[in-house]
Amino acid sequence: MTGRPEPYCDAVTTGQPVAAVSIGATVYPMPAGTGGVDERGRGGPVRTWVDGALVDARTAAVCADDHGLTVGDGVFETAKVVRGVPFALTRHLDRLTASARGLGLPDPDHERVRAAVAAVLADAAEPAEPAEAVADAAPADELMRLRITYTAGPGPLGSDRGTGGPTLIVAAAVATPWPATTAVATVPWTRNEGSATAGLKTTSYAENVVALAYAKARGASEAVLGNTRGELCEGTGTNVFVVRDGELVTPPLSSGALAGVTRALVLEWLDAVERELPLAVLGQAEEIFLTSSTRDVQPVHAVDDRQLVDVPGPVTRRAMAVFAERSAADVDP
Ligand SMILES: Cc1ncc(COP(=O)(O)O)c(C=O)c1O
Repeated sequence: MTGRPEPYCDAVTTGQPVAAVSIGATVYPMPAGTGGVDERGRGGPVRTWVDGALVDARTAAVCADDHGLTVGDGVFETAKVVRGVPFALTRHLDRLTASARGLGLPDPDHERVRAAVAAVLADAAEPAEPAEAVADAAPADELMRLRITYTAGPGPLGSDRGTGGPTLIVAAAVATPWPATTAVATVPWTRNEGSATAGLKTTSYAENVVALAYAKARGASEAVLGNTRGELCEGTGTNVFVVRDGELVTPPLSSGALAGVTRALVLEWLDAVERELPLAVLGQAEEIFLTSSTRDVQPVHAVDDRQLVDVPGPVTRRAMAVFAERSAADVDP
């Protein structure tokens, strides 16, 4: 607990189709299908509940001096939700703790986060009240993206941290499945594997935003970065696997890559190895795929100007099949 009155802050609105948001002990349900945008095109949910009462969604906001907002002093998790059930939640909570420790934040209370997740997902599954509904809430089989954000909380306007205690935000949004294959683009910026935040899932993702925009401007859905040593590192929100001489390889975490939950499962479930690779491997690899919580295993059909043929190749097909089977058999592996 933060010692702050609850609710200390109201919900966050993003313009995304947010289904429900929980901040602290408070759940703010928002009917899916609204796109988080009202009939006049303004960003924000249609309705927001605070401790059981309907409130104006436009009052929903985190505190203006939240260190997560002012300097990106926070960590987060994104998990896939299938039919209302989050996938690999325990691994995501463990990584949230690892990232928080990396920033010197107090350990997040997993039970509190789980309760917020359960409340948000239960609410997202509820049909909206007809009077308020713009569209029905997400059907039970909907694919959703769960977002857990944990910041340093209110603080000074500089890099010093405040003493108010952390802010916890849990949100869920209806997700669109990724296309069967994708193009990626390399970018002219590097991951700094020696950075204080290397390998931490922090809310300081502006460099990913810039890299992803660069890739999207080139018709790709993901940017792939090398590190300062010219080695393959990762995408802005994905890990990268390549097939070389029939062997499935991914860069080690010493490359500066995030310890992806999906990456770890692929390493556990398949015959794959971690090895340093030059970024140039993307020009030669027989097969390439991305892994992430929302993409699972996604084959790559193009890297910059290079078109790969017969995508997905045999190793990628096997990885997709094994991942689909194992993840369906155990939702919290
Ligand atoms: C930088 C980065 N690398 C890799 C990943 C993939 O990790 P996961 O499989 O846990 O989603 C993410 C996830 O969003 C990420 O932000």
